[in-house]
Amino acid sequence: MKKLVAACLIAMVSAGSQAFAYEAGDIVLRVGAAQVDPSGDGLDIVSGNINADDDTQLGLSASYMITNSVGVAVLAATPFKHDLTLDGTIIGETKHLPPTVTVQYHMDTGSPFRPYAGAGFNYTQFFSEETKGPLTGTNLELSHSFGLAAEVGFDYAINQDWALNAAVYYADIDTTAKLDGAELGDVEIDPWVYMLGASYKF
Ligand code: NI
Repeated sequence: MKKLVAACLIAMVSAGSQAFAYEAGDIVLRVGAAQVDPSGDGLDIVSGNINADDDTQLGLSASYMITNSVGVAVLAATPFKHDLTLDGTIIGETKHLPPTVTVQYHMDTGSPFRPYAGAGFNYTQFFSEETKGPLTGTNLELSHSFGLAAEVGFDYAINQDWALNAAVYYADIDTTAKLDGAELGDVEIDPWVYMLGASYKF
């Protein structure tokens, strides 16, 4: 991820300085690496703390510009896979898809730099839960999650169509864990999502 950031910064410094604006009706597609980094407290149970590790997948987001500065965006990705740990010991894994819908405000700075901020909702569906290690043979279920999400990001225009993109999302993702049908409690995942890639304006 650090190498990608460095490459983007170098490209930004050497990119042209033409102004870059969005107009109502534009569709801006963004594709890049998306890292989901859980920041929540996980779940405290008698024997310790259950938490999820981070994962990086292909992220895809599309904004539809309603006006020159307000857009509606959908974030999607290939499924994320997280190890679940109990005080560092892997006890299982899960996959999830976290589609996120935000309303974005894009600022026109009269330069190639276009910062934006957005707020909306995240819906996360967990699937393919598996148990490992001390929990092998038990059945783990994680409920879906619906919560608030926010993002800040920017596009930096290279030419009229292409831009470099970086964005950070925060999503309130909490899931109720059940082991063999018995409720363990709510796992606070609340990840930061870092996305780095390119934007293309249609
Ligand atoms: Ni939460």
